[in-house]
Amino acid sequence: MTFATLQDVLFSDVAGYSLSASGKAAIDREADPALTYGECTPEAVEHILSITGAKPGEVFYDLGSGTGKMVVFAAFFMAFKKSVGVELLPELHEAAQMVGKRYMEEIQPKLEDDRRDTKLEYRLGDIFEADLSDADIVVSHCCTCFDDALMQKLSDKLESCKPGTRIVTVTRALSSPAFESVGVSPVQMGWGQATANVYLRR
Ligand SMILES: C[S@@+](CC[C@H](N)C(=O)[O-])C[C@H]1O[C@@H](n2cnc3c(N)ncnc32)[C@H](O)[C@@H]1O
Repeated sequence: MTFATLQDVLFSDVAGYSLSASGKAAIDREADPALTYGECTPEAVEHILSITGAKPGEVFYDLGSGTGKMVVFAAFFMAFKKSVGVELLPELHEAAQMVGKRYMEEIQPKLEDDRRDTKLEYRLGDIFEADLSDADIVVSHCCTCFDDALMQKLSDKLESCKPGTRIVTVTRALSSPAFESVGVSPVQMGWGQATANVYLRR
């Protein structure tokens, strides 16, 4: 299956940008940069899994998961035990759940390996409250527009990950000694070229 077909089958009728806009309006946060919406590409997720050395049986998290693109693309590329998304806005969370159901019905049964066993999990809530204790790989694309205070809060949250967890922050970097920097890599998102900062939780 090509990336274009995957996108088409799952997302052709999913309007992430407008769902984000209505979700932010509903909580009076239209102008909050921390909730800036943007989407990944299948190529970006494939690249992130490669640079983090993703392995079958691991647990993948996308912090700020939007319509769940990263969650399903990760499950498509790797036989994870579980691919988890955490999203604050109910409008996006509900769309992600619908996409996940579609993936389970239309894509996963056609796969011919252990990727058929991957579970998808969508959590409605704040990433700063999320339990990350079983994570092996954590990606934060949402921190692209975080200010310094939110980056510090994210860094504190990521310290709750077990040693050995691989962490990717898009655009903005972490600076705590709790994380060993293991690479910086360009990555093509739906909105343009970004930087993937890769860390190992010490
Ligand atoms: C740049 S979008 C990325 C969407 C998806 N990860 C992707 O790559 O396609 C960031 C998402 O993070 C969500 N977000 C921002 N802050 C959040 C928070 N504190 N808790 C949960 N979700 C958050 C936003 O609502 C938005 O949907």
